Amino acid sequence: MSASGYVDLRSDTVTRPTAAMRRAMADAEVGDDLFGDDPTVIQLQEQTAALTGKQAALYLPTGTLCNQIAMHAFTRSGHAVVCEESAHVGTHELISSAMLSGITFRTIAGSRGLVTAAQVAAALEPVPYDVAVVDLVTVENTHQIGGGTVMPVTAMTEIAAACAGRGVPLYLDGARIFNACAVTGADVSQYATQAAALMFCLSKGLGAPIGSMLAGDAGFIEEAGRLKILLGAGWRQAGIMAAAGLIALAEGPKRLAEDHATARRLAEGIAEILPAHIDLDAVQTNIVFVDVAGAGLPLAAWEASLAGEGVLVTIVAGKIRMLTHADVTASDIGAALDAWRRVTAAFGVPSPARAP
Ligand SMILES: Cc1ncc(COP(=O)(O)O)c(C=O)c1O
Repeated sequence: MSASGYVDLRSDTVTRPTAAMRRAMADAEVGDDLFGDDPTVIQLQEQTAALTGKQAALYLPTGTLCNQIAMHAFTRSGHAVVCEESAHVGTHELISSAMLSGITFRTIAGSRGLVTAAQVAAALEPVPYDVAVVDLVTVENTHQIGGGTVMPVTAMTEIAAACAGRGVPLYLDGARIFNACAVTGADVSQYATQAAALMFCLSKGLGAPIGSMLAGDAGFIEEAGRLKILLGAGWRQAGIMAAAGLIALAEGPKRLAEDHATARRLAEGIAEILPAHIDLDAVQTNIVFVDVAGAGLPLAAWEASLAGEGVLVTIVAGKIRMLTHADVTASDIGAALDAWRRVTAAFGVPSPARAP
């Protein structure tokens, strides 16, 4: 349960820094990151490069900024990026991408967010008389709107081959790549090696209060560093945050399987209450979507009523979204399921759990 007294399932970004993180932040050795001499930031960037097998890495405030800088570096204004139709880059970041890079998206309909190499190859097929030029393919792993679904390394390898066949670079939005690794058992470098560049968030399941990492070859990261300053993200004594990031990187991946188990318990509990409204096969990591749109009440009513019962959720892609994270305990899941039971009963939605 969060400090606010709610079971906060709105996102895996809501975790509070651990005591160890707060101590490390207080004691962090810092410099001025705009001058490139913050030793704690340098350490975090070097560790990320080593972990991903890339030549270099850059510490940035958000995953969105990582994606935006990467897409700007790989594309030209007026050109396109191929992505899955509900990918973060092509939905939440559609306007930023248009504003900052003048790019558009060629989208592929995935299955629970996941695309195949054949679909990517088809999207890269030249179209006669078409003026669109594709500069980049992106994949998202885990796929958020898809339900936190996992792309295996083999699928990514095939997609990389399809991209290489057309000479188009592949970028990985790996905001939650460590969640994927916790399921597949793969090392993050096995995914990273398939992509020209990738990003992951320290601020999500890994538990850091802020920050995301962009990794790629040295020339790309040098250009990304220039764009970071151009966009106003030269964040000075960022080592204070990077100190927490180092702990997140070292400790965070180890406990993600717990979040996945908690999400599974939550999803299976919801399936008992509202079996027609949940896709259990999509629950592969720490994300649970409940599709109550057809139950006859506005989504905002579910959100407000669950909050009234002490459980915070969000509405994403027309569904109720919940994420598990380090600050969610087994008893929180019990409390969340009790809240769902009470709200479902109050709304008069048929539930087999209430059948006589
Ligand atoms: C898949 C994916 N990419 C990128 C982002 C953006 O990360 P941030 O919130 O740090 O900007 C998110 C955030 O939820 C995400 O889910």
